[in-house]
Amino acid sequence: MSTMPRRPRAKAIDTVVHYPANANTDAGATRPERHRYVGQPLDRVDGEAKVTGKAVFTAELDFPGLAYAALVCSTIARGRVTAVDGAAASALPGFVALLTHENMPRLARPEPGMQAGGEGFALSDLPYLQDDEVRWDGQPVAVVIADTLEEAEHAASLVRVEYELAAEPAVSFEAEKCDAVVPESVLGEPPELTIGDPDGALERAAAKVDHTYRTPRYNHHAIEPHATVAWWSDDGALTVYDTTQSVFRCKQALAQVFGVDGSKVRAIAAYVGGGFGGKAGLWSHTTLCAAAAKVVRRPVKLAITREQVVRFVGGRTISEQRVALGADRRGRLAALVHEGVTAATTHGRYAEQLTFPARHLYKTPALRVRQAVVNLDMVANTWMRAPGESIGSFALESALDELAHELELDPIELRRRNEPRKDPTAGTRFSSRKLLEAYRRGAEMFGWSRCRLATPRARRDGPWRSGCGVATAYYPYFRVAAKARVRISADGTATIRAPANEMGMGTATVQIQHAAERLGLPVERVSFEYGDSALADTKIMAGGSSQTVSVIAAVDAAIDKVLRALLKLAKRDPHSPLAGLRFKEVIARDGGLYRTDALERGESVTAILRRARRAEIEAEGAAREPKEVEKYSMGSYGAQFCEVRVHERTGEIRVARWLGAFDCGRILNRKMAESQLRGGIVMGIGMALMEETLFDERRGRIVTRSLADYHVPVNLDVPNIEVFFLDVPDKRAIRGAHGIGEIGITGAAAAIANAVFNATGMRVRELPIRLDRLA
Ligand code: MOS
Repeated sequence: MSTMPRRPRAKAIDTVVHYPANANTDAGATRPERHRYVGQPLDRVDGEAKVTGKAVFTAELDFPGLAYAALVCSTIARGRVTAVDGAAASALPGFVALLTHENMPRLARPEPGMQAGGEGFALSDLPYLQDDEVRWDGQPVAVVIADTLEEAEHAASLVRVEYELAAEPAVSFEAEKCDAVVPESVLGEPPELTIGDPDGALERAAAKVDHTYRTPRYNHHAIEPHATVAWWSDDGALTVYDTTQSVFRCKQALAQVFGVDGSKVRAIAAYVGGGFGGKAGLWSHTTLCAAAAKVVRRPVKLAITREQVVRFVGGRTISEQRVALGADRRGRLAALVHEGVTAATTHGRYAEQLTFPARHLYKTPALRVRQAVVNLDMVANTWMRAPGESIGSFALESALDELAHELELDPIELRRRNEPRKDPTAGTRFSSRKLLEAYRRGAEMFGWSRCRLATPRARRDGPWRSGCGVATAYYPYFRVAAKARVRISADGTATIRAPANEMGMGTATVQIQHAAERLGLPVERVSFEYGDSALADTKIMAGGSSQTVSVIAAVDAAIDKVLRALLKLAKRDPHSPLAGLRFKEVIARDGGLYRTDALERGESVTAILRRARRAEIEAEGAAREPKEVEKYSMGSYGAQFCEVRVHERTGEIRVARWLGAFDCGRILNRKMAESQLRGGIVMGIGMALMEETLFDERRGRIVTRSLADYHVPVNLDVPNIEVFFLDVPDKRAIRGAHGIGEIGITGAAAAIANAVFNATGMRVRELPIRLDRLA
């Protein structure tokens, strides 16, 4: 028997954060002036809530009348569902409903987002449970809803599904890759680009390297598996709590799938336990949970298992890449070719942008980049931290190291000789690019010239060979034209609101720091309301390392409006010290507005608002379009240095030391930025040495479905990682800052591969660099 539907309370979790009274928000002696917060290493505003368990994550939500859903996933790679037998499941106590393609509500096809060349916000255009077709092993084929989680999972385990297997599923990358085709676009850029005559130049080059590099499939394993809680109100409005990296995208995609206006859908995500791109779009479980809530007329929770994260949330594509470099004897590039094949699906179509670094890093008279994609019957691949730049830089930066060895040139010197003055493919000027400076400072701090011997296999310590490697890190600058709201109150507090997303990066903290500084308020008096699509209708996403500056630009615009309005109110009184002043003649500081020509003369926010009998001023601000990226080549840059030790007998590889020197423009919070970069480098160590999704190419099935067999780096695998920032503001970037979320993983795998070569004389061109590949 199912319980009667009851309506949940409208708001169950707090998406407003502010510093608790006892927080360490005093950046201390390093703070030059009161309320100069930007750049200071402030603690996380949500740190206390997280470590004390007060922060409520989606899967922990509880509501009166909540029902639980569990999914049944296909066990064939391609074919049809011929029968679903739910008799045993429906006889269980607590059983509420079974949804299959036969009784699912009709849903519209979602429009895929830019990953798949669309304008929408979904990851694929698949309509879930709308037909009997099975498109990959792991595709959800039935949803069971029950009163408790245990009952739902037990019932799901009893559902019997019969299939008709398609004659020949396309599941082998090896077998299918020859059919790869050039896609229409690669994330909005041309998939193919040629400058000059790269083949001829290669042919004639005094020195050249031309090799194939391979990277395996990788899966997302954020600490928090995906979860959704959904319900519909009587007026046909849908509310979802979802582990999303973009409440906006989640809302838009659901509105499209369910054929309702965007204003009828609200997506909320207060805390997200890591995303890395795996939560950037709408996956099947969110749609299925919302559909289940509609059918059973109750709030429904669907928290997927870690195994299911692997089975129907996509990961990083497998790749095969060719990099060919030709150079003269002095190491100046004559040709650069970077070509690659990746796997996608007919419904996902995401061509991972692995040729992007090659388009922007080196000066060369002849270049060709080309990407092709082969469709397989598998779960749609997706964004995964620096998609493209991560695996692309493994190939490109390994090849640079190979060329340096060929030329008997220091690999840093080789990069120095090929540093472009303009963007090699766009032809635009760099807004700010301090890559060589990062190499210089990094080499100094790492002790490169002392530690790294030019001859491979030259350093040993007992049974261990040791060696050093470097590689370039690169990630482009992205920004979206976002909107935000700011409210300043008579009690001297302010609230910033934007549908931004916090998955652990420090979003809320940095936004509070910035707003407090601009408003001239102590950080304790500024709160940030985020993670709720109802806050503003704007395209914000925690993705593409774009969110921080996108939100800051919008908040800036809103703050301008609020402060202008405040000045106008103050000027109504002819006796105000601000009377007769223009906006640029005042500054917000110490909780009020002050004259720039006489900093001690001004009025507090409280005084101005009280006199005007106003409780608050609120304004919405909209940032301008990101024109800066059209005029300039913009990106974050870095130099990754590492030392590895390789055991002579066993081939065991240990990363002994790491230093990353980065130019990410101005650093807004050094503590959080270092942490982001460190996390990216740790993920790069995993990519280089451990992580690998094993895919059974006979059945099209992912075999590594848990953290017991998908190995990620643990503490003992990670050395002390030093992160150094040049911290030079870019005049063309919002607040001088570039993205920091993704660059950390780029170049990391190549630095390790290059260090392994330096230690052993063995060049491994296939990731992960397992010990058996060193045999
Ligand atoms: Mo990132 S892969 O854009 O979350």
